[in-house]
Amino acid sequence: MAKKITAKKPKTQKPNHPKVTILTHPVLQHKLSFLRDKNISSMAFRQIVEEMSQMMAYEATRDLKMEMVTVQTPLEKTESPKITETFTLVAILRAGLGMLNGMMKILPFATVGHIGIYRDRFVNATVEYYLRLPKDVKNHRVLLLDPMLATGDTACAAIERLKEYGVKQIRLITLLAAPQGIRKIHENFPDVEIFTVSLERELNKKGYILPGMGDAGDRLYDTVHHS
Ligand code: URA
Repeated sequence: MAKKITAKKPKTQKPNHPKVTILTHPVLQHKLSFLRDKNISSMAFRQIVEEMSQMMAYEATRDLKMEMVTVQTPLEKTESPKITETFTLVAILRAGLGMLNGMMKILPFATVGHIGIYRDRFVNATVEYYLRLPKDVKNHRVLLLDPMLATGDTACAAIERLKEYGVKQIRLITLLAAPQGIRKIHENFPDVEIFTVSLERELNKKGYILPGMGDAGDRLYDTVHHS
């Protein structure tokens, strides 16, 4: 008699916060499983992060404002929609860089900013070492890119800086989000929306996301973590 195979169905994740959107598209979920696998190469990891970022760009910009413009087709004049909103992609260094190319492929008209910021455990403070933002960023919507929302310290520091520059609408785009990070963002910045592919279980003692995918920067660039 043939052996019955019982495949486990994936559980659908549900956000318990109205400002969190989980991108449940099967292709995104499928690609995430490759990223979790510790045996894939950096080259494959980078490629998949880029592919997923393209899909996330699409999902996170569904509500961009448009207006009808007149276009002359080869046959006749018609009214057709064009995006009117200006927006900026801000990559949190270094892992956010992995998402930037994919995002820019879908949103080539976006301007780009970079922010280098990290939590220094020796001085117990957030250290900013690089910041370049487009001139008129305060009039733009911002998509803030960081593949991992762990403690939320870095994301909160980056959001605080963007707000100091007058940015009014910020969406944090992340592949994985830990409950602690989501809580921290929403306690400090209840208006910030989070788009993620997975809500993760917890952080370990070193601040790594579980089950997670390890250190995203190290996996993107094949480096060794020394902390
Ligand atoms: N940053 C990472 O790259 N990975 C984690 O698990 C947590 C923070």
